[in-house]
Formats: sequence, structure tokens, C-alpha cells
Amino acid sequence: MRHIAILDFGSQYTHLIARRIRELGALANIYPTDVTAETVKKDAAGIILSGGPQSVYDKESPQIDAAIFNLGVPVLGLCYGHQLIARTLGGSVAPGTVREYGRAQLAVRNTESLLAEVNSPTTVWMSHGDTVTNLPEGFITIGSTADCEHAAVANNKRNIFGFQFHPEVRHTEAGMRMLNNFVFNACKAEKNWNIEGMMDDIIQEIQTQAKGRSVFLLVSGGVDSSVCFALLEKALGAEQVYGLYVDTGFMRKNESAEIKRNLESAGFGNLHVLDASDTFYQRLAGITDPEEKRKIIGQTFLDVKDNAAKSLGLDSEAWMLGQGTIYPDTIETGGTRHADTIKTHHNRVDAIQKLIAQGRVIEPLKEFYKDEVRHIGSLLGLPDAIIKRHPFPGPGLAIRILCSESGEQQIDAELPPTSSQQPLATPHHILPIRSVGVQGDNRTYAHPLAVWGETDWEKLDKFSIAVTNSTKEINRVVLLLNARNMEPIFKRSPKAALLTQERTALLQEIDHIALSKATDAGLYDDIWQFAVVLAPIGYRYFESVILRPVVSQEAMTAHFARIDHTILKKITDAILATDSIDYVFYDITNKPPGTIEWE
Ligand code: XMP
Repeated sequence: MRHIAILDFGSQYTHLIARRIRELGALANIYPTDVTAETVKKDAAGIILSGGPQSVYDKESPQIDAAIFNLGVPVLGLCYGHQLIARTLGGSVAPGTVREYGRAQLAVRNTESLLAEVNSPTTVWMSHGDTVTNLPEGFITIGSTADCEHAAVANNKRNIFGFQFHPEVRHTEAGMRMLNNFVFNACKAEKNWNIEGMMDDIIQEIQTQAKGRSVFLLVSGGVDSSVCFALLEKALGAEQVYGLYVDTGFMRKNESAEIKRNLESAGFGNLHVLDASDTFYQRLAGITDPEEKRKIIGQTFLDVKDNAAKSLGLDSEAWMLGQGTIYPDTIETGGTRHADTIKTHHNRVDAIQKLIAQGRVIEPLKEFYKDEVRHIGSLLGLPDAIIKRHPFPGPGLAIRILCSESGEQQIDAELPPTSSQQPLATPHHILPIRSVGVQGDNRTYAHPLAVWGETDWEKLDKFSIAVTNSTKEINRVVLLLNARNMEPIFKRSPKAALLTQERTALLQEIDHIALSKATDAGLYDDIWQFAVVLAPIGYRYFESVILRPVVSQEAMTAHFARIDHTILKKITDAILATDSIDYVFYDITNKPPGTIEWE
């Protein structure tokens, strides 16, 4: 079938490109980068070269069969792909003087091809360090940003195009128009793909994979595992699917009871609940490193599941493991060849990888994004209480409780942003903690910068982008909500801060306060996800919290929510009234450069 072929250079967004094209109604398939021109030529109406974490001028960086450019098939390069086109066809690429992460304004210079019907200027989403410095012959610049001259380029005659930014992410305002221009105007692809039409294939695929075996599924109560449960029951029958909800002890306040109620009222018959919190706390005692936490949690899930399966007398060969894995879980664990590992998701640890290799894992949603999963859930008739629930990570509050071994106060970044890169004169301080981020398709683990004394979201957003773009040691910016008249003191806890039941109970309480106040203010449906993070810093209690409400569509990109300051004041006052928290911060970092979670 004719389709758009996407060559995967390891971008976090590769599947998102395919998603967007499918959303436009055309089929898209993903290929490794060593695919030959001969192979893609067969059915490709167009070719997209994805972004990737490397630099095109690195010796080891992935290249492509240059004959692809001579097939007469339209080609669009995005980010790394854009730079690869420039370099392969005789232009040049160099490290940029300014790195760009997040929002930028594109001035449209030529509307003949991919930028037809795009307003100028238009917001685009960037994530790059390198930049195209000279164009190959026959190319013109069709769009530029303040920091990137050749942000969009075209050889209209040969139908070869390159964008430095990412049209596939929702935050690129006219991204769908640009992709539409490529897919239907340049490539003349057919409009013949939709999700309703895929339902029968998904069900059939489950039946083929199960080969008569029953499925044992860990259910979290979230959208993904619930939709997976419903699909498995539909495909195999309720008696063939055993759903187990494991209470890890890291759920939100009262959440386990609520989940059980929701699932039972949605009609799931074969659901069982197991309290394994003691095991999780024991295994995580003393662990402070985020990646180590994630790996232990993944392994513990698996052991708890194995023990439960054994005690239920399930013959392992006759059973499969079901998982509600969705695409971001796979790609962010380095699931495709050139991708960097941003963080290890609990359903991609080694033991699970082994089971996958043995053909004993069934993951009907692994090619889909959250918004598509919700669509599938509504086609299956699941209630809104499940479908509209905010996402919650498998490791739960365990990855929202930052830990530190001892009270050493040292910060290994001492570089405040220089005045020329700082459009806002506001007091600031680098915090002695670190968080995970994603910049230019790579994982970062760097410090947040705290600022205070400013309330204008627009200015704060610009400041946050400028700081993280220009200062390598900083991957997040947070706004201090309870700034007082004196210079704040941000010390690390003098004692080790670990994953204890006391700290979990504290975060459960604060999280409950924050989320219920936001819900009372009518914000639940506008916010995509609202994480509350506990950090062992301060001056009195040595515990502070960071509020992290974000707006997103599929978790691959996000921007911080701009909640009204009067509501934020109410949340902050209620948190401080617990007499257990020194500071309340508000995360003003987009993704990239931050991730949604902190670990
Ligand atoms: P990040 O933090 O990578 O998160 O921007 C993207 C989305 O994934 C969720 N998340 C997880 N979900 N297991 C999960 O099931 C995990 O290990 C995990 N880590 C992050 C996160 O909450 C957000 O919705």
C-alpha cells in the first residue's frame, strides 16, 4: 500500500511523525536508516528523515543511502534529517552559537511549497544544538527564526525540504498544515487510514498472539492499562484475562480504593487487588538514584507478579503477560536503534525484555499515543472516569520523592546565566538538587534554577527558555511561590532523605491538597497532568514541594500550565498550613527541555 516512509534516526518524535501523518488520514511506516533506496522506492509516496540525538558530522552518526535523493520521491528532513540533507547534498552544518529548546517564532519567507497557507510569524518547537550554516545548491530558505537563519529550506524543483523545527509536535502551531502540504501536495499520498478502521486488526492481532493462552495483566487504574484490559477481554473473553492491581504503597491518597471502585463499576469481572507495599519499601530502602529506583520498581513489579501467578497456580507456559505499554514508554527507554535512553520505564526492564524475546508479552497499545488510546477506550465504551483520568506513572510517587544521601551542600553548577541571555531581571538561585530533562533528544540530569519576584507568565516563559537554552548546567526553572522579604535559604537536608513511608505520607497529603484545590477551581480537564514533587531542601523542615501542572496532548511535548495566581496562592497557603514544608515552587519549564516527571 502506498505510504509515507519515515527513516528513524532515533528522535524521541519519530513515532509522533507517523502518528500525525496517520491522523491526516494517510498510512505511514517506520524504517531503520540503513534501508536501501531500492526498498523504500516500492511503495513510498514520500520519505521523511526524522530527527536524532547525534551530530551529522560525528564519525559514528547514522547516514543514509544517498540514492534516496535521486528516486524522484519527495523528501522532508526534520532536525537531524534537515541537517543530513544539507550535509549530504553539499551544504554545511556546524554547532550553533545559540542552542534552541522549546518555543521559537518562524518568519515565513516563501509560501510556494510546504509553508503555503501558514501565517507569519508562526510558533514552532525547536530542540537542537547544531545548525545548517550553508545551503546546498538549488535550495532556498523559506523560513527563519531569530537564532536560526535556515530554519526551513526547500528545493521546490526536486521536492526536497528540510525543517530545523518539529512540525509533528502540537506546540508547532501550523505543524499539521505543513505536514499536510508535504503529504498531499508534494507527495500526492492517498487519504485512506483511520483508527476506527484499525479496531478489528487490533483485536485480531491479540487473538493471533495469544494462540489460546490466557493473559495475566497488571492493571494500574490508568487509561492505558484499563483500555488494554478492555481490549483483551473483548478479544479473548473475560475468563481468559486475569487482572491484578498491585498496591505499591506509592499511590496517591485514597487512590487504590477509588481505582477498584472505578474498574468494578466499568464492568471488569476478573479483577484482583494485592497489597505489596511492604516489599516495595524494603527493596527501595536507601536508594537515591532515579534510574536505580526505576529499575528496582520494575523488577519488584515483576517479582510480585510472579509470586502472585505462582500462588494462583498459573502454569507459566499457558499464560502470557499483558501490559498497557504505550509508545512513549518504548521510545524513551531507547527502544529504537539510535535513540538515547531518557529514563527506563518500569515496563521495559531487562526481565520484561527477555519475556518479550520469548514471545510471552502482549502489548496491544504499544504503537499508540495517549490521545489515541483514549479514542480506542471511547470506541470500547469505557466511562469518562477512566478515559479522562490524568496519567500517573507506574512507579508512582516513588519518582516524585527526590532523595539525597547526606547533607552535603555542594552544588556542582555555579554558573548563573549572564545578563545578555537573561531578559528578566529577577532574583534567582541554583538549587542543590537535580532533575531529569530531555534536550536535543538526549537525557540530561541537571539543576533547576529558582526565580522569584515576577508573576507575568509570558515573561517567565521567555526567561525559562532563554536560561535553559544558554546554560548547560540548568535544565529547569521553577518559580518560588512563597518568597518572603529576605533572601531565601535553599539548603539540602542535613540528614539523608530517602524513600520512607513518612515522606510518602507527607507527599500524599500535599498532593491531595494541591490536586483537590485545582479540581475545585475547575482546572482538572484543562490540565493534562499535575505532578507534585517533594524535594529535600529548605531551611527549617528541609522539605519543599514543586507543583508541576502541564498541558500536553501526547506527553512527548508539554508546556507548563498558566494557572491563575489567586488559585496558586490558595494552593500554596493550604500547603504551608500543614507546617511541614519550607518552600512551594511552580515548575515553569516546558518539555523539552524538562520532562514531565522530575526523575
Ligand atoms: P516524562 O517525565 O518522560 O513523562 O515527560 C511522560 C509521561 O510518562 C509518564 N511516565 C511514566 N509512566 N511508567 C509509566 O507508566 C514510567 O516509568 C513513567 N515515567 C514517566 C509521565 O507521568 C508522563 O505522563
